[in-house]
Amino acid sequence: MALALRRAGPLDISKERASTMSEHIAVLPDKQPALRVMPMPADANQYGDIFGGWIMSQVDIAGATVAMVRARGRVATVAVDSFVFNQPVSVGDVVSFFAEVIASGRTSIKVNVEVFAERNPEQPFTVKVTEATLSYVAINQQGAKRELPSQKE
Ligand SMILES: CC(C)(COP(=O)(O)OP(=O)(O)OC[C@H]1O[C@@H](n2cnc3c(N)ncnc32)[C@H](O)[C@@H]1OP(=O)(O)O)[C@@H](O)C(=O)NCCC(=O)NCCS
Repeated sequence: MALALRRAGPLDISKERASTMSEHIAVLPDKQPALRVMPMPADANQYGDIFGGWIMSQVDIAGATVAMVRARGRVATVAVDSFVFNQPVSVGDVVSFFAEVIASGRTSIKVNVEVFAERNPEQPFTVKVTEATLSYVAINQQGAKRELPSQKE
């Protein structure tokens, strides 16, 4: 993974923390996020770390937004193919979810979601916190699977 400083200038953090974090500092993708949200204290444990389940739920929503566009209608999540938590998310982070359709079949759509946290508003920096791949199935109003519309239509 290519890593680079998002902004020039030193970070106002201890040398020890800086050397650990500099390995994880990333650049926000140059595209529109599917979702951008700030977790609240109710989403965290007693140490201020955000629950994995909160992130999984937002990832599912973000992935569904692009799957629905491809399916031109209702979709259901059929599988979480992979899910990796690379770094923790904390209260106060601004979390962005970037979702992209990476494959589609007869009724199913595979979506990759990358999650970035923007931290430390005084001297902001960005960390890639999570990456996941999910599968959705296009469904009709009765909840039964339906064929995806052609992409040419
Ligand atoms: C989604 C659902 C309608 C699929 O119905 P189904 O008759 O079981 O469908 P199939 O087994 O024929 O699979 C449909 C598609 O999903 C894909 N699929 C099924 N299981 C999958 C899995 N574990 N991983 C990835 N893709 C999967 C199939 O490959 C197929 O894709 P294709 O048509 O593009 O080839 C049904 O399983 C369902 O209602 N599940 C609950 C969904 C839900 O409530 N999600 C919210 C989370 S609680």
